[in-house]
Amino acid sequence: MLKWAVEAPAKINLSLDVLERLPNGYHRLAMIMQTIGLTDEIRLEERSSGISLSCGKAMSFLPSDSRNLAWKAAAAFIDRFPDVGGVHIHLNKRIPVAAGLAGGSTDAAAVLMGLNQMHGMPLSPVELSEIGVRLGADVPYCLVGGTSLAEGIGEILTPLPSFSGFWLLLVKPPFSVSTPRVFAQLRLEAMGNRPDTAKLTRLVAARDLAGVAGGMENVLESVTLPLHTEVGHIREWMLRLGAMGSRMSGSGPSVFGFFSDEQAAKAARERICPTYPYCWVVQTVDGPYQGMKQ
Ligand code: C5P
Repeated sequence: MLKWAVEAPAKINLSLDVLERLPNGYHRLAMIMQTIGLTDEIRLEERSSGISLSCGKAMSFLPSDSRNLAWKAAAAFIDRFPDVGGVHIHLNKRIPVAAGLAGGSTDAAAVLMGLNQMHGMPLSPVELSEIGVRLGADVPYCLVGGTSLAEGIGEILTPLPSFSGFWLLLVKPPFSVSTPRVFAQLRLEAMGNRPDTAKLTRLVAARDLAGVAGGMENVLESVTLPLHTEVGHIREWMLRLGAMGSRMSGSGPSVFGFFSDEQAAKAARERICPTYPYCWVVQTVDGPYQGMKQ
């Protein structure tokens, strides 16, 4: 029986700009995306037919049926290759859901990548991305990971030089945010500070952490911060604790801050964790972890 496993990483947005609202309700974006060392464990096991999904402990709120994006990814692959039969997916979820960290998208990307590797790579990277974007706009990015400029609705990717190895504190406040709601409430004429994406791209390439941290912007904060004042409060708290820069990731509500080193990030965690227990000190990392046939 074929088996496969991978650690699927979360992402943060070093920047997020909205350029235009499209006729289909989606938005044309310019984002600098970065994978981080917070992962979901995904294990795949070949089955003769059908899809099943089990989740790690304490994940009773996570749908373990066709509503789960990992399941939808398997269904899309098997639709394309009916001879594959079926698969059992085991998901050990560590990335918070509906948090702006692409947790669902990275699971979907891992399942697509895993099934493709298990079955002799029938799909090219472009074909995987085409299936991925129908599951979610962040899935094409999650298939490649690392440091990348994402344009279009998120599927047009330009790899950037590695920005791995920097320390950050990530905090998930105790509520979730609906991405469609945030985009629906966004007023393009009142987005506040917008990122200078070209300048940030150069700072990323120069591995200028202070420059990147100081130049990060996310226009979706103009919607999420007024809805949830705690997001702004956590940002300011991180800055007072010495963060070089702090921003919300995606549509939120997760907030991250870059620190000069691991020790400084851990010292800030000590202060924030009693109030916000969902907090992690992690590093920026390169591309998706390589899955392994077992
Ligand atoms: O593609 P995905 O399901 O991840 O997107 C979630 C929601 O985010 C969409 O339903 C849409 O409201 C919004 N979105 C958008 N423009 C994008 C990506 C997402 O408006 N480029």
